[in-house]
Amino acid sequence: MIIDKTKNGIEVKLRLPEETDSKKIIEFYKQVGKETTYLGFSDGEYQVTEEQQSASIKEINASRNNLMILAMVNSAIVGIGTISSNNKRMKSKHVGVLGIVIKAEYCNMGIGSILMDYLIEWCKSNKETAKISLTVRRDNPVAIALYEKFGFETEGILKGETYINGRYFDSVVMALMIP
Ligand SMILES: CC(C)(COP(=O)(O)OP(=O)(O)OC[C@H]1O[C@@H](n2cnc3c(N)ncnc32)[C@H](O)[C@@H]1OP(=O)(O)O)[C@@H](O)C(=O)NCCC(=O)NCCS
Repeated sequence: MIIDKTKNGIEVKLRLPEETDSKKIIEFYKQVGKETTYLGFSDGEYQVTEEQQSASIKEINASRNNLMILAMVNSAIVGIGTISSNNKRMKSKHVGVLGIVIKAEYCNMGIGSILMDYLIEWCKSNKETAKISLTVRRDNPVAIALYEKFGFETEGILKGETYINGRYFDSVVMALMIP
């Protein structure tokens, strides 16, 4: 477990999920799905049962190149970071896809940076990941600033990847090579 502090002095603990966290994790994703449109799923689309979430945690924790890390304040989940790799393809299992989300009331306090630091260091040490990849909406300046701060570079633009209420949004593909 890692203990750190937000910019305003709140104690944040980073820890791996346990199968018993399933309910809290589902509630967290349902909550952030309501708070932001920047995620890949919309409000109401995180339809995972506790059994499925629990099985997923078990699988991730047993994997060398997949990770879920929880940022906790007291006993509440305030952020989740993930690295997802495809082990069915030998040619691409060195690519870890990064995901990150913080509860709205805890944004801009430095928790995203604490999680990013952990995710990158974990990738450097897992002996498998050589490239961290992510996709972010082009109109998400906070996330793009965060990724650039950690050395991610833009690889390209995907036009009109997201459609919300009659509008199309571009995405930026970013990556960090692990030395
Ligand atoms: C993106 C997200 C994960 C960032 O987490 P966070 O805890 O708010 O991030 P931090 O506080 O560590 O850092 C944010 C950085 O953005 C900067 N920032 C804030 N507003 C900004 C703006 N409008 N333009 C540019 N930079 C901005 C901050 O100054 C800070 O940088 P600094 O630490 O160098 O000062 C969080 O805002 C979030 O979950 N958003 C909703 C979901 C999302 O967008 N996920 C990413 C999908 S790809």
